[in-house]
Amino acid sequence: MGEPMITALGHAGLRIDGADVRILADPWLSPGGAFLGSWFPFPDNSHVLTPELLDVDLVVVSHEHLDHLDLDLLAGLPQSVPVVVPRYPSTIIQRRLRAIGRTRIVVLGAWQRYPLSEHDWLTVIPEQCPMSHDSAVLLKIGERSVLHTNDARISLSQARRAMTEVGGPLDVMGVQMSGASWHPIRYEYDEVERERISTIKRIGKFKAVTRLVRQVEPRLVMPYAGPPCFLDDDLFELNSGLRPGGIFPDQSEALAWLAERIPSQAGACLLPGDRIRLDDLSVVRDPHWSGFTLDAGPEERRCYLKGYAARRRRAIDAAWAANPEPQSGLAQRFKTHLESLGTLSEYFLARIGMTLRFDVSGPFGGVWDAHIGPDRVVVELDGGEGHADYRLSMDGRWLDGVVSGRTRWEELLLSLRFIARRQPDRYNDYLVGLLKHADRAALRAVEEFEAARDPEEITEFTVGGRQFQVSRYCPHAGEDLAETGVVVNGVLRCLGHNFEFDLNSGRCLNARCDPIAVKATKTVETYDEEAV
Ligand code: FES
Repeated sequence: MGEPMITALGHAGLRIDGADVRILADPWLSPGGAFLGSWFPFPDNSHVLTPELLDVDLVVVSHEHLDHLDLDLLAGLPQSVPVVVPRYPSTIIQRRLRAIGRTRIVVLGAWQRYPLSEHDWLTVIPEQCPMSHDSAVLLKIGERSVLHTNDARISLSQARRAMTEVGGPLDVMGVQMSGASWHPIRYEYDEVERERISTIKRIGKFKAVTRLVRQVEPRLVMPYAGPPCFLDDDLFELNSGLRPGGIFPDQSEALAWLAERIPSQAGACLLPGDRIRLDDLSVVRDPHWSGFTLDAGPEERRCYLKGYAARRRRAIDAAWAANPEPQSGLAQRFKTHLESLGTLSEYFLARIGMTLRFDVSGPFGGVWDAHIGPDRVVVELDGGEGHADYRLSMDGRWLDGVVSGRTRWEELLLSLRFIARRQPDRYNDYLVGLLKHADRAALRAVEEFEAARDPEEITEFTVGGRQFQVSRYCPHAGEDLAETGVVVNGVLRCLGHNFEFDLNSGRCLNARCDPIAVKATKTVETYDEEAV
């Protein structure tokens, strides 16, 4: 074994070497990218993929998104290497791993320790609400601790427990500050509105991470896990760095934000192949990147991405070839698929209650309406009349993958290969949850989680001389509003996912979500408007 070290592999991927153990965490290295050939690691990490890198004792994968669960890479590892995954209500990760021939799959419950050597261990910290199947991974390697949060939004109380588990401050903490979302970039907004929403989302994510880092005070913070890049011509202009704004800030932007708000916080932005020595937390740069900078201007970024796209041409073509135009029967397959989703959870259907219109182009396409809820889904194949709450427009080749079982809904949504419009313009988490899980056990877990919240616990906010007592846990995914609630312009915003609530009525203003309960208000003498 060599020197104890963390090596950045690009995106959220890490190799972690201890005195007695070698681990890959969320490696995303195979050349095919992810999500129907739309996402690729940025910058190009292909130079780190060597036989030595893959010579490991164990792989840990935090969740089933294919920029973390690299099936092509995992299929090629020796069977002796176990793959450790968190336990979620659905077994989709295990099924996908078995489908590629993995036989040693270790499923860890929350906070359950997996021994790596006599003293070293790792555990997983799933998000509290089972609507999201995301987990942080906590490792104790020698005297050092590493919190690999990847896409998980862990709560402050979870972070505090992580510190207790490792017996002191966290040494290295990887934080994702560039959220992966198809909203607003694939929605029919004008440019001004799209940028307005993008700014709110970008800043909201930055603030949520800043709060966590400020409380946790890791010895070294490392923004990572995004953004990806989009190399297909159809998606190329969505890349960050080609113009100001957007929802995908680079890691260097994230680090600069943290440095400005928490000047005492040490941080590092690592490119693929850069390393952190675990003994003194110094950073060793990979000479591969001399002459490259994340802060390049738009033309330099465009030039870099064009060259990268040329090198990935074959992978992009393969994604198109694997999803050919439908030959026949697409409409009927769509109807069967959507109506079968309607049998999974009446709890979800009642909270969706909308008409979803699909405008499907290409051979055997059409305009199809899915009326969702309150107790079933009914699909009309001669749709297009009347009001639709959501409209999704896409090429039939991508939809065919979903209704034929090749592609999961969230892969299609993350692929960005669609255009959407919603009227009213409100997010519905239950709709996304139904599509992305499409699994009875996963949906039941959400229902049980939401039913178990204690509506009696309260927290307080003082705004404009009035004190509001509101239910303590966010009705969206249960974040503790005492930690994640901020009041901006008189509106309570939960930094978990930026849902906003009217403090007088409790109504959610920007999403389809149960209201917060406003228990009581009283007038106080001080004025206190909180902003992060
Ligand atoms: S937990 Fe998602 S917005 Fe509050």
